[in-house]
Amino acid sequence: MRHISIAAAIVLICTLAAAAQTPAPPQGTPDPDHKALPMGPGRDLVIKVCSKCHVPEVVAEQDFDGPGWKDLVNQMAANGANASDDEFDQITAYLTKAFPAK
Ligand code: HEC
Repeated sequence: MRHISIAAAIVLICTLAAAAQTPAPPQGTPDPDHKALPMGPGRDLVIKVCSKCHVPEVVAEQDFDGPGWKDLVNQMAANGANASDDEFDQITAYLTKAFPAK
């Protein structure tokens, strides 16, 4: 009995430690057509670069202005999003135009 509770405690500690280290990407319903993303220059880049960790549709729920989108894109680059500076600029421009602050 003692053995079982120690093992359970170790598993619990490891699970908590792992959860604390990696922020969990938000989930969403995958949509192959990405209907939530309006057409426009940079859309393909968003789908390509931003689909790696979560569905790109997470952007549709945000309400940022231009500098806000730039900060978000910088934050995702820090999370590990992989694109050139030029591509990140195009992504920021697309997001600013497609999802203006309300
Ligand atoms: C390397 C993995 C990764 C990539 C690539 C990535 N993200 Fe994220 N994204 C995350 C993680 C992890 C979170 C949750 C933690 C956070 O907010 O940093 C997140 C959260 C978000 C959120 C907030 C969603 C919510 O419901 O709060 C938005 C918006 C977002 N990402 C947009 C983007 C955009 C736009 C791109 C492409 C430029 C992108 N992400 C690429 C990992 C990634």
